Amino acid sequence: MDSMWSFSLRLLLFWLWTSCLDAGYVGQSQWSEFFPDCGGSYQSPIDVDKAQAQYDPSLIPVQTLGYDQHGNAPFILSNNGHTVNMALPGWMGVAGLPWQFSAAQLHLHWGNGAGEGRGSEHTIDGRSAAAELHVVHYNSELYTNLSEAMTQKNGLAVLGVLIEIGEETNQAYANIINYLHRIKHAGQSVAIPAFDVRTLLPADLGLYYLYNGSLTTPPCYQSVLWTLFTQTVKISLAQLLKLETVMYSTKADVSEPTLLQDNYRTTQPLHNRTVLSSFPHVSVKVYTAGEVSAIVMGSLCGCVGLAVIIRFIVKTIRSTSSWDVLHNVRPTPQSRTNDLAKESKQDMDLRTTSDPGKKEESPPQAEP
Ligand SMILES: *[C@@H]1O[C@H](CO)[C@@H](O)[C@H](O)[C@H]1NC(C)=O
Ligand SMILES: *[C@@H]1O[C@H](CO)[C@@H](O)[C@H](O)[C@H]1NC(C)=O
Ligand SMILES: *[C@@H]1O[C@H](CO)[C@@H](O)[C@H](O)[C@H]1NC(C)=O
Repeated sequence: MDSMWSFSLRLLLFWLWTSCLDAGYVGQSQWSEFFPDCGGSYQSPIDVDKAQAQYDPSLIPVQTLGYDQHGNAPFILSNNGHTVNMALPGWMGVAGLPWQFSAAQLHLHWGNGAGEGRGSEHTIDGRSAAAELHVVHYNSELYTNLSEAMTQKNGLAVLGVLIEIGEETNQAYANIINYLHRIKHAGQSVAIPAFDVRTLLPADLGLYYLYNGSLTTPPCYQSVLWTLFTQTVKISLAQLLKLETVMYSTKADVSEPTLLQDNYRTTQPLHNRTVLSSFPHVSVKVYTAGEVSAIVMGSLCGCVGLAVIIRFIVKTIRSTSSWDVLHNVRPTPQSRTNDLAKESKQDMDLRTTSDPGKKEESPPQAEP
């Protein structure tokens, strides 16, 4: 009886989950109630703390394989209700990681059209980017396809690219963004002209962070080797707004369509993981507004204090008729001259130590 009840409850929960997720109702905080992996300790995305990342000199630049050989067969772009997805042919891949990985698909994450520049999944030192590209690969040395690999250890490799707002239209991203109006509703897809996928990535694939993580959407399988490039790419504000406001998470036949927005997951605890970096950390002290004003105030006080002291000394000197009041502390004119000569000689010695020959030619002399 009990098990029957529990079974029905689970069924109900699952039904609630699928229908709510389709409608975009289930909050991320509840994912783990339906998919236990989402509550695991190797979850993605994460915030990368630059200073905590561990430099690993053995990390070589990532190489894309066949990204430019699209063979002129069109790419299929689709709206799956959660993101825009573009299938990639299996002959594309990446090298430079511990295994050979074959490409499967790419997709994007973004914000809500407020032009705030907040929509990336990964953050660096707490800073979000406007959007994020994920190019998903599976381990083709160990597994036969994506669906088999994604549940397994070391199954997937995802390249993450942070996208920021720039002045110019990004022609590479236009290859995707210009067709979003053709897949407004969940479940729709469109064939688009093939293009060089490498152009979506930043120029330098040698600078990146590497860590073990997960899919960022349910079922959150913890099978992903993440490569997050430090170089960002830029798209125009108009392109970003298109990405954020053209598609719906709902099917074409619903009466109240919901925009497909804010499809990024919040950063997850790092727990015991290390984030490796392919380059050494350069510490650049960035002062906060508070620190800056403290420094400015400190210097100001110092200057004012010094001015007061100088003024006091000058006043003291002026108010006495002669230097005689300082007689006791002043060296006699004679010894002062000797000191000067001595100082000057030391000075000369210092200047000529690198060239001892010169010392003989110009014997030290006291300045007049
Ligand atoms: C993936 O590979 C597994 C194991 O070889 C196979 O059972 C499954 O049908 C494949 N799935 C797809 C979608 O090709
Ligand atoms: C990921 O985990 C494996 C063990 O499963 C470990 O050997 C590897 O070094 C880890 N990779 C990173 C980047 O931390
Ligand atoms: C982290 O590692 C410590 C010891 O290595 C272990 O006791 C602890 O359970 C780990 N925590 C997580 C969340 O994995």
